[in-house]
Amino acid sequence: LEYSLTKKDMKGKNVLITAGPTIEPIDPVRNITNRSSGKMGYELARSFSYRGANVVLISGPTSVNPPYILKKFISVKTADEMRNAVMKYYQNSDIIIMTAAVSDFKVKNYSDVKIKKDSGEITLQLIKNPDILKELGEVKKESQLLIGFAAETNNLLDYAKKKLIEKNCDIIIANDVSKKDIGFDSDLNETYIINKMGDVTHVEKSTKKDIAFRIIDYISNSGFIKA
Ligand code: CTP
Ligand code: CA
Repeated sequence: LEYSLTKKDMKGKNVLITAGPTIEPIDPVRNITNRSSGKMGYELARSFSYRGANVVLISGPTSVNPPYILKKFISVKTADEMRNAVMKYYQNSDIIIMTAAVSDFKVKNYSDVKIKKDSGEITLQLIKNPDILKELGEVKKESQLLIGFAAETNNLLDYAKKKLIEKNCDIIIANDVSKKDIGFDSDLNETYIINKMGDVTHVEKSTKKDIAFRIIDYISNSGFIKA
């Protein structure tokens, strides 16, 4: 019923969404990761699908079930795997949304046997992962709408605007992750949508499902995508 009652303003649009954290192995039994429930990305994927889009969802490990209505679901672990999947699918996409909490670093000295704790101390060398959004900003076509998320604990709008410019996004969605009742594991969120002209639109605190709908309304009405 919900499906049939939803407006189909995204009909025929190809949408690529990344969600969840990535995890980077230290050895076969241990890893480092980022905080992310994946909920915001999954709600966007569901809502875009309900509104008629063909959605490819590329996700790191989460405990959320992928919406049944997706065109394609791709499960990845590391940032490198996520990057490769994104590069394989982005060309055909009209809208690309990076909600994933990509690990900024990976372990340089990965051990393919389990590290024993006997030594009392180990040193991990971390090297930078590819910045997937930045790479997309460099290769995207004029007709493609590129949307990033920015997770900040302070100077929210300034840092988010800086990322929008540095990664050549059309839109960046800023989240204040220092607030306890929103973001991360919560079903609630509050965001600011910033476009490349510098306009800021506040999306007040609500469920992630609701926020996803408002974000799509914004995109639909923004004039960024052509019919
Ligand atoms: N992102 C990405 N690849 C990375 C890191 C981030 O594609 N290796 C994307 C995220 O999916 C998000 C945006 O870039 O859409 C901003 O991520 P964020 O972690 O807020 O910013 P960073 O550029 O990683 O900077 P920092 O963590 O230092 O604030
Ligand atoms: Ca980061």
